[in-house]
Amino acid sequence: MTDDLRELYQEVILEHGRHPRNFGPLDHPTHAAHGHNPLCGDQIDVFVTVDEAGVIRDVSFRGRGCAISVASASLMTEVLRGKTEAEARALFESFQGMCTGREEGGMGASEEDVERLRPLSGVRQFPVRVKCATLAWHTLKAAIEGRGEVSTEEDEDAAGAPAPTPGQSHDE
Ligand code: FES
Repeated sequence: MTDDLRELYQEVILEHGRHPRNFGPLDHPTHAAHGHNPLCGDQIDVFVTVDEAGVIRDVSFRGRGCAISVASASLMTEVLRGKTEAEARALFESFQGMCTGREEGGMGASEEDVERLRPLSGVRQFPVRVKCATLAWHTLKAAIEGRGEVSTEEDEDAAGAPAPTPGQSHDE
């Protein structure tokens, strides 16, 4: 990754972290879930409205977390609107692969959407950050699957990542 690209990605993360899109609960979501990262205590709620055809009409989030987790949630809400549940799952797989350095999987995710999530790809160099980047996505998946709660500890792909020091990462 060039320095320019790294800088651009960092700017995107900081901008979304400071001014998250689609922040706040939806009025009448069809699905919602609460996610938390027990390693740092960060929490997020994801709200989704899915129509009868299985298309995500609206998605939002609220919560407290580090810049990466908030930016990831914000970017997630931007790319998901208008996607089917199957496309959302494929995107999550692609995103998870991108964050862990295993790019396979996520068949069916559009390249354009995957590229929009690319600013978070730098977390692959910091395994502890993978759970920050995927917290919103795990929560979204739990919401769509009708599970009201999820923990990043259930994230098998990130298993083995060292735990962040509580409180340490919120200053970033
Ligand atoms: Fe808690 Fe990032 S989600 S430090």
